[in-house]
Amino acid sequence: MQTTVVDHPLVAHKLTLLRDINTDTPAFRRLCDELVTLLGYEATRDIKVEPVEVQTPVDLATGVKLARPLPLLVPILRAGIGMLDGMARLLPNADIGFVGLARDEDTLVASTYATRLPADLTGRQTFILDPMLATGGSMETVIRMLRDRNAATVTGVSLVASPEGLARLAEAFAEDATPVRIVAGGLDAGLNNKGYIVPGLGDAGDRLFGSI
Ligand code: PRP
Ligand code: URA
Repeated sequence: MQTTVVDHPLVAHKLTLLRDINTDTPAFRRLCDELVTLLGYEATRDIKVEPVEVQTPVDLATGVKLARPLPLLVPILRAGIGMLDGMARLLPNADIGFVGLARDEDTLVASTYATRLPADLTGRQTFILDPMLATGGSMETVIRMLRDRNAATVTGVSLVASPEGLARLAEAFAEDATPVRIVAGGLDAGLNNKGYIVPGLGDAGDRLFGSI
């Protein structure tokens, strides 16, 4: 598994605002949207393209277009929805699948309450969107779903990751034939005894959509 923690002053600046307890929901949503476009630039570095020619007003130019099959974006409900618009703006032709997961507050185990994914992902590059990579259980569950559907590559995009979560994924996918990559905006100190990332930003789903 390959891990990239994006080292860029704009990412660090926006992540700091996102963490701030005084950042309200509208600003939190806007910052998630802006951050995913910055992380998406790195996450799509190996996106498959094919040559294409276009006519400029002056001459023919050789460029590229996204290769088929087109990529698949998979936000993990709920909080991943806050990253969907920004990523879809970068890849407007991508298909979008959904996985709904809820983490048990005591066991920290995520259970699946919704799955809407193509049955066969052969040859397709896939991007999982989830702002928080804490124990890594949610990300691991969805990586397995995409890998088992034969995805060509799986890239998880998170705003904040923990060392524990990254270590878990590195172990789970060490020998995997499917290339797995994680792109994160920040790597924090660790998890507290409630499974929250420290210092983190609190409950991403609640800050985006209100507490339930
Ligand atoms: C949160 C967060 C991640 C998950 C991360 O979701 O949005 O999906 O926890 O934790 P993990 O790495 O330990 O699995 P939650 O289950 O609280 O649901 P929500 O997005 O609906 O708030
Ligand atoms: N989920 C969140 O929303 N925040 C955390 O810190 C951990 C899991």
